[in-house]
Amino acid sequence: MRILFLNPSSQLGGAERSLLDVIASLREARPSWDIQLVVSDQGPLVERALAGGARVEVIAFPKSVAQLGDAGVRGPAGDRVPPGILLRRMALSGPAALLYVWRLRRFIRKLQPDVVHTNGFKMHLLGLWATGGRAPVVWHLHDYVSARPVMSRLLRRFRSRSAAIVANSESVREDVKSTLGGDSKVFRVYNGVDLATFAPEGPKLDLDALAGLEPPEREVVRVGLVGTLGRWKGHAVFLQALAKLDPALPVRGYIVGGALYQTGGSQYSLRDLRELADTLGLQGRVGFTGFVAEPAHAIRALDIVVHASTQPEPFGLVVVEAMSCARALVASEAGGSVELFRSGVDALGYTPGDVDGLAQRIADLACDPELRARLGKAGREAAVRRFDRRSLADALIPIYEAAIEARAS
Ligand code: GLC
Repeated sequence: MRILFLNPSSQLGGAERSLLDVIASLREARPSWDIQLVVSDQGPLVERALAGGARVEVIAFPKSVAQLGDAGVRGPAGDRVPPGILLRRMALSGPAALLYVWRLRRFIRKLQPDVVHTNGFKMHLLGLWATGGRAPVVWHLHDYVSARPVMSRLLRRFRSRSAAIVANSESVREDVKSTLGGDSKVFRVYNGVDLATFAPEGPKLDLDALAGLEPPEREVVRVGLVGTLGRWKGHAVFLQALAKLDPALPVRGYIVGGALYQTGGSQYSLRDLRELADTLGLQGRVGFTGFVAEPAHAIRALDIVVHASTQPEPFGLVVVEAMSCARALVASEAGGSVELFRSGVDALGYTPGDVDGLAQRIADLACDPELRARLGKAGREAAVRRFDRRSLADALIPIYEAAIEARAS
């Protein structure tokens, strides 16, 4: 059996880290399967996938294709560029996209995969066109289709040609069904984590050193937001909440992560965030580590992990990673993240964007080590029960097999 994965970026965002877990899980469950990954640029995903036992080919996106996407075309305030402008951009990049499809098609003809598994909006379409019916194509959706006006039109149009759709949460599954029109071939497959890597004990980063902060004079409770710098991940809400805390509370904040994707406009830069922190009077009380290759080492260095997405979160990998590391977690409750924890049992929830609510929960946890330990322990138990990445293969293999069978019949 040969599976071809197509991923539109090789930076390590959530969808890419999920893909690495999918590959690892399949390698373990089916060691004889041939796993090939195609990515569109050189980046850390290449090394990691090679180390995980996949073969990797870089077929580079032409620049105009790399920059295309309705997630990336927001103005500075996060407002969207009107679909008309986006369509014009797409039309302009048309010849480059065709060239790309042609290159990918040549590769697929040689490889003869049994299944093509696409892992990002652009690849759902380019992969489908390039495969041209030679193999079933499974779309793996990590984000809400309804939030991408142009992409959802295109996906709706070509949906019947995909063999199956995998959604990373019930919330994304509902969204796919209502946006693309529903038949039954949309499967919810939760992401999983490597429970050994995201374990309560293990290496920890020195976050202060990474962020260029002096070591604290007295013991502090470390609170951090870990993730890419997408605007909707709520970094501003987190900083505002930190600014509301009583300065006497021994709390230090950290923003762990860097700007990742090529599509401009949709992310903060570290400079934006530093300026905001300064404006809020947080000098010396919050550190910025930049991109961290091993999120588990950063999460373990924190006492409280904050998830602050201001829009519904399709899944929220960091939520299950923090739980798996037995860390106290405060998470915003909207979208798929709600499916991952029980507020008051294995994490504390709050309303997205509610600065006071977030500040209150951070303060409650900062003052109460027992509460932190109790939530952390319950979080780990839930992660072991529900988010072991080994179950990814169990869920995906039958989907692949059914797709192959449906094509043969
Ligand atoms: C995307 C989603 C995020 C999810 C990740 C992995 O990045 O926005 O919510 O955790 O994919 O599925």
